[in-house]
Amino acid sequence: MPSYLTIRDIKKHLKLTRQTVSKYIQEGNLKAKRIGGKYFIAESDYLNFTGENRGIAENGVTSKFISRNCILMYEGKKDEGEILNYSPTGSIRSCHKASEYPHNSFYFGDNRAVLSILLERLRGKVDLIYIDPPFGTGQIFSNLNDELAYLDTIINHGFLEFLRERFFYLREFLSEKGTIYLHIDKKLGHYVKIIMDEIFGSHNFINEITRVKCNPKNFDRRAYGNISDTILVYAKKYGCNIWNDQREELSDEQLKKLFPRFHPLHGRYTTNPLHAPGKTLNGDTGEPWKNLLPPKGRHWRYARKELTRLDQEGLIEWSKSGNPRKIILACEHKGAKIQDIWEFKDKGMSYSDYPTQKNCNMLKRIIRTSSNEGSIVMDCFAGAGGTLVVADQLKRKWLGIDNSFQSYKIIRKILGQNNINCNYYEYKEEVDYRNCSKYSGSNKALMMS
Ligand SMILES: C[S@@+](CC[C@H](N)C(=O)[O-])C[C@H]1O[C@@H](n2cnc3c(N)ncnc32)[C@H](O)[C@@H]1O
Repeated sequence: MPSYLTIRDIKKHLKLTRQTVSKYIQEGNLKAKRIGGKYFIAESDYLNFTGENRGIAENGVTSKFISRNCILMYEGKKDEGEILNYSPTGSIRSCHKASEYPHNSFYFGDNRAVLSILLERLRGKVDLIYIDPPFGTGQIFSNLNDELAYLDTIINHGFLEFLRERFFYLREFLSEKGTIYLHIDKKLGHYVKIIMDEIFGSHNFINEITRVKCNPKNFDRRAYGNISDTILVYAKKYGCNIWNDQREELSDEQLKKLFPRFHPLHGRYTTNPLHAPGKTLNGDTGEPWKNLLPPKGRHWRYARKELTRLDQEGLIEWSKSGNPRKIILACEHKGAKIQDIWEFKDKGMSYSDYPTQKNCNMLKRIIRTSSNEGSIVMDCFAGAGGTLVVADQLKRKWLGIDNSFQSYKIIRKILGQNNINCNYYEYKEEVDYRNCSKYSGSNKALMMS
């Protein structure tokens, strides 16, 4: 799905003539950019236009199918062009170079600025993005020593726009086989989903995962316990995205239930019928085998030669009444298909290096499923750097960004403990922020600490 529409697209969607669409552009009702003699209309401008001119759009074509006929409107929502035209006033400098290798780097600084600088080099090259941003809670997060880790003070629509601005960049980084995973809580997750539908396309939505994050809570609030959060998953191009199907080992309880019998040679097993519905009119699977015909209206699941082989290998169980069934061994089971409720509880704060630090086994699952060895994995809200460590262990290239000084310190420590080489960079504003009120909020506090 292109992010820009042409006059031809709009003519088709709205069932208008080319002249009418051109007139709307010329009169300034429909915003468009003229590039090389041709007009390009940003999706958000198109949606604004159809939203304001409902009579024009017939048959509910207003939302151009990208966000299921709805779009989130709020104060201060910028258009895509404005967002992607941002140019940072600072620059990136190297703090510590571990190798000539360009990947495996951590950038200390605001991710919007760093992303906009890195985009030229890495456009379309990142196979997996996992992000766990602040959740717009209005809180301040400190570590165990009471040192400020990060501020989560951008809230409401300001928070949504903060994320949205980054999404436009992140979409550009994703390769054609890329996937983005976004971690968010239940208070804001549904708003964020609408924004992700808008930017990544609802047709690229893969899953909304409920992640069980902690043990049941027993608090006084008049509400059910809040033990889960959400991970939204989108492909850059659904169907082209890397998908290494992961399976979950069956628990002892599941094994006993699914494979209730015990074979002296092969261990736990169950049996399945050797026949399946549907009659074979003229073929091997409809013929008698060992003087037996498949039951009425059914056929053998295997050719008779294969049935004989299975029998010779002791993989067919005969009942007392002479009914054969196929033996299914537990040791050959591929494991259970992973569903969309995951239990990966985080370590309690007293055991964590960083507040809101996420479970590394969860990251392992994500990285294994949606990237390959050699893929570039990015986390631009890196926190304690779990994504970077796990990506390195799984032989992926990686790149992390965070603007918290605590995050920078912890990442240096953890990567060092794991003998992982990393190039460290810092994004710095060109102004002397120590004496400058322009440099406000969390960055200033963190840079000074
Ligand atoms: C929820 S925490 C991430 C925790 C991380 N997933 C972990 O397992 O440790 C959010 C992180 O986003 C960082 N952050 C917030 N705003 C940022 C920005 N504009 N640029 C870069 N990092 C930012 C914070 O410093 C914080 O470390």
